[in-house]
Amino acid sequence: MRRTCFRAIPLLSAVLAAFSANAETGREAWLRYERKQTAARQRMQERANRPLQFLGSRESPVLSNARRELARGLQGMLVPGSLPARNLPKHFLLGTVASMKSLQPPSSVSEDGFWISRQKCEGTDCVVIAGGSDRAVLYGVFALLSKIARGESVAMLDEVQNPGAKIRWVDQWDNLDGSIERGYAGSSIFFDGGNVRTDLTRASEYARLLASVGINGCNVNNVNANPRSLQSDFLPQIARIADAFRSWGVRLSLSVDLSSPKIIGGLDTFDPLDPKVAAWWKAKVDEIYKLIPDFGGFTVKADSEGRAGPSSYGRTPADAANTIARELAPHGGVLFYRAFVYNHHLDWRDARADRARAAYDIFHPLDGKFDDNVIIQIKHGPIDFQAREPVSPLLGGLEKTNRVIELQVTQEYTGQQRHLVYLAPMWKEVLDFDLHAGSDKTPVKDLVAGEAFHRPIGGYVAVINVGMDENWLAHPFAMANLYAYGRLAWNPELRAREICEEWARLTFGNDLVVVKTASDIAMNSWRTYEKYTGFLGTQTLTDVTGSHYGPNIESSEENGWGQWHRADHLGIGMDRSVATGTGFAGQYEPAAAKIYESLETTPDELVLFFHHVPYTTKLHSGKTVIQHVYDSHYDGANEVAEFVREWKTLKGKIDDQRYDDVLARLEYQAGHAIVWRDAICNYFLRLAGIPDARGRAGNFPTRIEAESMTLNGYVSVDVAPWENASGGKAIECADANGCSATFRFSGEQGEREIDVEYFDQNNGVSKFRVLVDGREVDEWRADDHLPAKKIGGDSSTRRRIHAVNLRSGDEVRIQGIPGGEEKAGLDFVEISPEPN
Ligand code: GCU
Repeated sequence: MRRTCFRAIPLLSAVLAAFSANAETGREAWLRYERKQTAARQRMQERANRPLQFLGSRESPVLSNARRELARGLQGMLVPGSLPARNLPKHFLLGTVASMKSLQPPSSVSEDGFWISRQKCEGTDCVVIAGGSDRAVLYGVFALLSKIARGESVAMLDEVQNPGAKIRWVDQWDNLDGSIERGYAGSSIFFDGGNVRTDLTRASEYARLLASVGINGCNVNNVNANPRSLQSDFLPQIARIADAFRSWGVRLSLSVDLSSPKIIGGLDTFDPLDPKVAAWWKAKVDEIYKLIPDFGGFTVKADSEGRAGPSSYGRTPADAANTIARELAPHGGVLFYRAFVYNHHLDWRDARADRARAAYDIFHPLDGKFDDNVIIQIKHGPIDFQAREPVSPLLGGLEKTNRVIELQVTQEYTGQQRHLVYLAPMWKEVLDFDLHAGSDKTPVKDLVAGEAFHRPIGGYVAVINVGMDENWLAHPFAMANLYAYGRLAWNPELRAREICEEWARLTFGNDLVVVKTASDIAMNSWRTYEKYTGFLGTQTLTDVTGSHYGPNIESSEENGWGQWHRADHLGIGMDRSVATGTGFAGQYEPAAAKIYESLETTPDELVLFFHHVPYTTKLHSGKTVIQHVYDSHYDGANEVAEFVREWKTLKGKIDDQRYDDVLARLEYQAGHAIVWRDAICNYFLRLAGIPDARGRAGNFPTRIEAESMTLNGYVSVDVAPWENASGGKAIECADANGCSATFRFSGEQGEREIDVEYFDQNNGVSKFRVLVDGREVDEWRADDHLPAKKIGGDSSTRRRIHAVNLRSGDEVRIQGIPGGEEKAGLDFVEISPEPN
């Protein structure tokens, strides 16, 4: 080993940083290094007197960061005299395995892997964190800090961790104007008004978060790429983002538009096989690497949803990918070519047309034709990040080509971070699914890691879309998805619950009740969401040509987008069998294809993805399809109400700020789950004409419809689609001075909960008041940011007024004052006994 020298790191700045933010805004995510506020000042003093000692002579921006992070974490967490404080020595040796040969580090440590152990370093007791590379040292530091934060013992340390795959990247869909496509947490942390932000503090904080879960690459711009991002005057700005990432070991990459040689290069073509085009890409790539020596590479979305592509010149994706990849290769760059290529002008009248087939049909025949630094980026399902899809057969359909799986953390079709949906259980099902692609078992995790077919490179990409919201992803629990993505990309053997508990400990502390309750809610949340929004493998029931958020069943039908349910009064579902349908089932290897080909063997949760069936068909569960529709929606909505009750048991056990934030979001979700429940149940009740055996669907005896109240100024309007409002109608007020709707309470005297279902658009702020016999019991502003400019399933929301004493005959009056284009819309009122 080279001579090492002991060095005290300047600690005070690190310590101050750790103590600066007292509020629990979520900005520190799982890297809180939990502060004990009471003795903070005193401990700071003690620590300043007992600096840690770092060993090792080599410097690099990543290694310095690793040291600083370790100091920051330990100083934040180690209460003098506590067990971990007593168990850890003052000396730490941080470096690459190559630099500490004399300690005989295990030979199994891979490039991004690390070894943490207790050793004697130059006669002194020390902790060694040795990485296969500088950034791996950082990963080791984060792993040690995570152990301490979660209360694991650090008395004995001897562990090697290696990631399962080389590519562990994230995509941001940020536009240069600062907006984010399918982003639900504020504007871009990178771009603003057509330029890179001057202040990139959030960009480097993001890179720190990513590094803490082992992520090593970030594509910063939308896959629907603006060619400007490659312009020579813009690239130096991009280089500043790469600078902000570098010391966290995160490589920057860019999405590119294939027509760039023509649009910004001034050529008369972007034909990938034209030598002028190849020369243009070479010059561009060389220019980028001069500015960003560790540039990661490009992501290409082509011939998809209106993007330019090689098909314009009769060329294949392989022609396009290889032309560019060839120029990236000498610099160590890679090219991700997205398999999300499909025709969005499909003929819905054609029973054989099927969007799900597209990726396999296009890419499977090209297997073996891609260069070694090309990676096919494949969404986990054949459609598009739905709440439930089968695994994409293309993941198993490439033997001589690299692949990564694309997951989605931003909850585009899964509640947009307004609904709590922990996605790791879904991802685990995908990663563990055996595609039978080789002679042995070939679960997706082995295929994407490159193991199954001995590919040199492979792994994971996820669309994240953090924004300027203080806590990155808006919903505190959405951060569990980012955390889980990183952890699974590192080690797909981890269990979803185990990851969630880790996250909960790091996020909320080690109180076992908190960890259990938060994890219970999270673990149930995806299946609960599926119950009230996407039964039996139907594709999305959201407004698919619009927000992708609230219910709008028919928006999927009779258009070219290919997310059809093919629902009519007799039955529902897409026949994707080989025998009678689109043949999609035949894209799987025989063992899996056999399961999906027949209705008898298809699992209930995918029945309607693969088969068109009458509503009266009996499922494996013993229920008919239609009764399943009713039951699952009632169950789903009840389960969200239960999440609210469970969360309330944590009052006082975590900080009020995050407790209140999550509670408000869950209350909203519980209301919106009812909107979903009623829209889907009412729609299929009318379409199928088969009643709910339990009499619930279409039957709301405790509901007072707004249009049936005595209206003063308010007028009754039809809501489209009809199922998105109770009774298909609502009331709106066009009078700037306000309107009112009145009814008399006819129930028994007692303490009541009043639910007011109203509409909150994002193009105005209305005001509401509720009065009982002239006495105000509540007032509020409709100022949420729901994705809606009109009344309907996206804007429908609930105000719950607790503990109102009502007597029979009391007059209940709701006053609404419109604001902007929002007309104080009201749907109904429901009055129920106040729960104990
Ligand atoms: C979805 C999403 C688009 C996105 C596309 C993609 O269709 O709605 O906004 O561009 O996926 O992954 O390219």
